[in-house]
Amino acid sequence: MDNNTHYDVIIVGAGASGLYCALTAGRRGRRVLVLDHANKVGKKILMSGGGRCNFTNYFVEPEHFISANPHFCKSALSRYPSWEFIGMVEQHKIPYHEREHGQLFCDDSAQDIVTMLLDECAAVGVQIRINTQIDKVDVNETEYKRFNLSTSKKLSKKDIANGVKPSQHKYSCDSLVVATGGLSIPTMGASGLGYELAQQFGHQLIPTDASLVPFTFTDKTGELIRALAGISLPVIASNERISFKLPLLFTHRGLSGPAMLQLSNYWQTGEHININLLPDIDVTTLLLAHKKSHPKQLIRTVLADYTDNALPKKLLTALQTTLWDDIKDKELANIKDERLSELGNTINGWQLKPSGTEGYRTAEVTRGGVKTDEVSSKTMQSNFQDGLYFIGEVLDVTGWLGGYNFQWAWASGFVCGEVA
Ligand code: FDA
Repeated sequence: MDNNTHYDVIIVGAGASGLYCALTAGRRGRRVLVLDHANKVGKKILMSGGGRCNFTNYFVEPEHFISANPHFCKSALSRYPSWEFIGMVEQHKIPYHEREHGQLFCDDSAQDIVTMLLDECAAVGVQIRINTQIDKVDVNETEYKRFNLSTSKKLSKKDIANGVKPSQHKYSCDSLVVATGGLSIPTMGASGLGYELAQQFGHQLIPTDASLVPFTFTDKTGELIRALAGISLPVIASNERISFKLPLLFTHRGLSGPAMLQLSNYWQTGEHININLLPDIDVTTLLLAHKKSHPKQLIRTVLADYTDNALPKKLLTALQTTLWDDIKDKELANIKDERLSELGNTINGWQLKPSGTEGYRTAEVTRGGVKTDEVSSKTMQSNFQDGLYFIGEVLDVTGWLGGYNFQWAWASGFVCGEVA
């Protein structure tokens, strides 16, 4: 193998964490190569935040992350707080704005973030090769040229049709960084390579699942939800572990919107979820009070007061058909207190059992991944193989919706780039 193919650091994955690690290691004078099998770098950054990339959050706390080891993320997040990344964004004069809950988005385009990362990488001589498939990783026990990578060029459909043979290339490096992300959105380049490499070196995996993902429903609930597609309202979505006061969106496929995506991080197959459709009102108390003060009123008339801002009319009509069709034309005075209180409890705590989620096809992230107990929280280095590092989403660290997953990618990429 000639010297041209040896690098101090090879990073597999030119996504958020890989590019940030590359520019950090490059600034230390390390000779860095980034390899990616996709035909473009940073594809998920480009599609994030509706094309405007919610690149971080003003309020980043370890509580915004889920992991089998909740302490693991603390060190990297404290050494690389969000204002470090904001500083880089400002230095590159990228216009941005704050939305609710401290979320920061580009004013113009997510492309600004990718361009910034590529400019920073270029400034310190980082080399990037796309369309490169990693076929094999071998390890030498010497510290120099510790890892050997066999790669082949990914061919386009046109190349294959023209009978082009894939060219192969070998590289070696002292430090190998796995930054291959999770399994979400396979069409954007997601693959299980990072997990396979982890297992090759003796690491355990926390079972993976699609997360920050809409819920799906079958049967009658599914029909009801589909009929309401397009409706959005503020709710409290909860289960035994957590609750979120955020918008809910009915879609043709199920329930989405920030409330559902956040809850999906904490949901296991087969569990129920609760939705408080009128979070600012105790509906039982309201109905019982109206029974006394306006005994001739109908239930829908009482609830119609909230159709302007909280409970859209179409939803109210659908709830009536589903929950109180038999008493819809009865005056409150003629409805038993128990029935009114049962109805109030249902509106304040609609219990649903999702049949599943939309899965990796639409999920923003992958929950689970490389077990963090076997990786240094200070450097991201493997406890089993010197010079091997895991960063970003491939690790069992999953952030909330709101810029937290990128902040984890930048922070873990940074602490690794400082030592790799
Ligand atoms: P990332 O996925 O960025 O990069 C992994 C790289 O590895 C890719 O370039 C891939 O091609 C490459 N790779 C994979 N397998 C390989 C193989 N076998 N060989 C070579 N290369 C390989 N987060 C957030 O904080 N704010 C937001 O607004 C959004 N929005 C958003 C929208 C959508 C639609 C999605 C899918 C995701 C988000 N996210 C997000 C999540 C965020 O994009 C994600 O957590 C980070 O990109 C993770 O960074 P990584 O570097 O770990 O992986």
